[in-house]
This record gives sequence, C-alpha cells and structure tokens, in this order.
Amino acid sequence: MSKPAPLLALNWKMNKTPAEATTWATELASHLPRTGAELAIMAPAVDLSALAWALRDTAVALGGQDVSQHESGAHTGEISAGMLLNVGARYAVVGHSERREYHAETSGVVAAKARAALTAGLVPIVCVGEGLEVRERGGQIEYTLDQLRESLSQVSIDNAGALVIAYEPVWAIGTGLAATAADAEELAAAIRGALDGLYREYASGVRILYGGSVKPGNIAEICAQPNVNGALVGGASLDVASVVAMAAAL
Ligand code: PGA
Repeated sequence: MSKPAPLLALNWKMNKTPAEATTWATELASHLPRTGAELAIMAPAVDLSALAWALRDTAVALGGQDVSQHESGAHTGEISAGMLLNVGARYAVVGHSERREYHAETSGVVAAKARAALTAGLVPIVCVGEGLEVRERGGQIEYTLDQLRESLSQVSIDNAGALVIAYEPVWAIGTGLAATAADAEELAAAIRGALDGLYREYASGVRILYGGSVKPGNIAEICAQPNVNGALVGGASLDVASVVAMAAAL
C-alpha cells in the first residue's frame, strides 16, 4: 500500500480566544500554500465554531484536544464526541502526555476515549511516548508499545483504519530538543509493527505522526521517514508564518 497523505496537526493547547482564533484563521486562509498534507487545527473547544466559520472555504480540518469517554449526561466539564462533530470537528487528540501527567489519565481511560470517538465518527489521534528516564535506560520501544496496546485495547479491527497515532516522546515536547529523524522512524516502525499484530492489513493505512519540538527546520526530514505520516505540532503551531512554512515543506 502506498504511504498515506501526511497529516499536519496543530496542537494549540490552551492558547487563543475565539476572536484571536478568527484573526489567525483568516490570515492563514489568505496564505495557504500548496501542500501535500492535510492540515488540522486541534483548538480549544470554545474556538471551534469560530474556526469552522472562518475556514469554511478551505480544506483545513478541525479537532478537539480531548474528548469524553461518555456519550452525554452528568459529566460536568466534559465534552462529548458528538458535540465536537456538531461544531465541525473531524479529530480529537486523546491521551496527550499533558493529560496523562497532570489529569491522571490512564491508558485505560485513553482506550475508552478512543472508542467513544470512533463510535461517534470522530478520528482519535492517540498519543503515546516515553519520558526521559525511560529513554535514558533504553526502554523506549517496550514502554511505548505497552502504552499503545493498552490505549487501543477498546479499538476493534473494524474501526482501526480510521486511527491516527502520535508518537510524542515526553522529553521532546516543548523543549526544543526534537527526536532525530532516525529516532522518530525507529519508534514509528515499532508502532507499525505492533499495529500489524493488532489490526493486520488495516495497519498500513493508520497514520503515525511524530510530535515534540517540530518546526519548519526539521519537519521535512522527520516526515520523509518511511513510517512517519505527519506531525503533531505544539509551540510552532501558534504562528501563521511557521505553519505556512511547515505545510509547504510537506
Ligand atoms: P511542541 O508540542 O511542538 O511544543 O513540542 C507538541 C505537543 O505537545 O503535541
């Protein structure tokens, strides 16, 4: 099977009000380069309606940064997959390391969120990746694959083709210290192998992103690796010029 088109997923984290998002999106829309990548903005939930309107004439997709494992009901503060779809989202990030670390999200919860997203028709971007201590002792493959298998434990083979996985080593997030292209490929290939075991022929269609200090200067080399199908970008996603440069590089 040929390589799937890359996904450039922008993780804004807790930045930009709806008004700021509108200004940003309007500027992006007027500078969108030719790109082989699909562009998607993972925005704060309150920004999504404004973004959907501002980007209505473009192919830029939208996503949430998290999604509830529940469909509806007494879950104060949660946002369901159906709600995200209703405001125009196609994606939702699940299991970002900041949610795992600061919001006590286990891989069991991540698995339930991935299933809830897929059941509703939303594409989950399931994040996995090791911390510095694991990397320093050389345990990154085993750690990341364990986390992957647990985080996908509720995703059946019927839904697997729609999945996106993001390999984000925690030590590379927001540090300016990206993994090398070879390191990113090593883990992406290991993840592909694990997906083969879980989902057989559907594994080749799963997009595997790399995330962690991606910027205009390193995105092309990382995304050219055989098993890397795009990037999940935090810091460098806030600035239109850098997003335009990254999209143009893919
Ligand atoms: P970064 O963040 O690009 O700022 O390292 C990536 C992420 O957290 O998804």
